[in-house]
Amino acid sequence: MENKMEWWKQTSIYQIYPWSFQDSNGDGIGDLPGILGRLDEIQELGVETIWFSPFYRSPGEDFGYDISDYTAIDPRFGTMADCDKLIKEIHKRKMKIVLDMVMNHTSDKHPWFLESKSSKENPKRDFYIWRKGSKKKPNNWISMVGTSGWNYDETTDESYYSNFLSFQPDLNYRNPKVKKTMFGVLDFWLSKGVDGFRLDIFNSIYKDESFRDNPSSLRFFPTPDNHDEAFFQKKLYNLNLPESFQFAKEVRKHISKYKQKPFLIGEVSGSDSVLKSFLGEKADGLSLVFQFELIHFKYQAKFFKDLLEKNEKEFPTPLTPTYVLGNHDQRRFIDRLGGDVKKAKILSAFQFLARGIPVVYYGDEIGRKEGRISNFFGKDPIAKMNRFVPLFLSNLLEIYINRDNCRLPMLWDETDGAGFSKGKPWLPVGKFKPSESVKVQKTVEDSLWNHYRQLFHLRKSSRILKEGSIKTKTTNHVDLLCFERILGKKVVTVFLNFGENQIEELLPKGSQLLYQFGGVEVKGERIYLKEHSGFVFET
Ligand code: GLC
Ligand code: CA
Repeated sequence: MENKMEWWKQTSIYQIYPWSFQDSNGDGIGDLPGILGRLDEIQELGVETIWFSPFYRSPGEDFGYDISDYTAIDPRFGTMADCDKLIKEIHKRKMKIVLDMVMNHTSDKHPWFLESKSSKENPKRDFYIWRKGSKKKPNNWISMVGTSGWNYDETTDESYYSNFLSFQPDLNYRNPKVKKTMFGVLDFWLSKGVDGFRLDIFNSIYKDESFRDNPSSLRFFPTPDNHDEAFFQKKLYNLNLPESFQFAKEVRKHISKYKQKPFLIGEVSGSDSVLKSFLGEKADGLSLVFQFELIHFKYQAKFFKDLLEKNEKEFPTPLTPTYVLGNHDQRRFIDRLGGDVKKAKILSAFQFLARGIPVVYYGDEIGRKEGRISNFFGKDPIAKMNRFVPLFLSNLLEIYINRDNCRLPMLWDETDGAGFSKGKPWLPVGKFKPSESVKVQKTVEDSLWNHYRQLFHLRKSSRILKEGSIKTKTTNHVDLLCFERILGKKVVTVFLNFGENQIEELLPKGSQLLYQFGGVEVKGERIYLKEHSGFVFET
């Protein structure tokens, strides 16, 4: 049987936040030469696709998500030659590279914006969204961070629109020149051989053409998978517009002529029907979208069974679900588990064995913990905006304000700088035990790092896990999650014990063990799964 499924429907994704991965020159900031020096280790882990948070030229006010030149490398990370080398070396190791593409907005220091704001007659004026209105805002639209999206600028006595922070002015996609320019940017990188793009806040690309006011809503707090009703507003006219669904198709079509068969993974949020609209009725929109349900998981078998069933109903083949446990905007999942490595193994096993794409945030493979930097001392612009909100309060309300805390440097070894930097790291490494570092975990057979390595490699080597369909099974134990992956006559069965007690199950004759963790005993036709253990076999 030939494997005809697109490669990106079978891949696994590992996210690198360049600021925090590996510093090579002692300035305390991670960089491309640093990453190059770690590629062998990433390959050893078994990663298939690496997604890089932005390393383009940027003032760095939002740590790279405020771009001032889309086709240049920021000097703090290295040079274009380093980047070319990175692409080459990743491909040499049979891995793929995905770049973060912030199409929605630029930095307010981008030359396009500087021109745009200089006068109403400037040819770049319509690159951005300008409206009359100073004290009185042009309409009631609230940005994704809870402030008015309109920013008054004295130079021309008008306001520009930003759906995120005010120094990130939104590009105007109703201007054909903007589209053309941004397609040119995609071409620049695709010609260099990159294998796809992660599209930043793609739900925000288009805004209502007639600038209608948004209706009100009773909801205040946004969640990772729902921004469209928040801050007492239903964001009917500044998020998830039909034009954005349409644009997803245009971008897909544009990139599909490249021989590397690149893909798009969108950061969008909303109901499943919104997500599906971005994927297109004929699966002709974005290739994948992040699905953030695991960001607020309940650690119980039923939650995961329901999620699998829901995703099979809402996102059946040819659609491919994604499973995201963390990223550079969210609490680390190990902290949401109270630091429990056994439970972390269950969740990561789920992520890798389900039908769909596991998205792993750097450091999650070693259980890298959060920082406790207060909002007051945060470098993150969102923390700065909310500096007087005490950390305990934001934690209590489960709103993630200071994103510095999930962006702390990688822990490579047991030395003071954790092998991340010989200088003063841009964010503190924090206290850690040697056993948390990559170096030590590599030597411990049942470490979390080794568990992830097994999972990455298991997926890579199993066509059933990559291509197979999925079916949940009902068992007699509330704490046991059981599902099957099926390809032709072959079946891989997964048992995950979410409970505190041992569970006994029957093992079909002729079963072949693929992987087990957390303490599983096989006695004849019976298997005994200790608390938080897992067992994977093929029949
Ligand atoms: C996305 C990014 C986030 C960034 C924002 C603005 O949500 O993940 O880090 O601050 O977009 O670009
Ligand atoms: Ca550096």
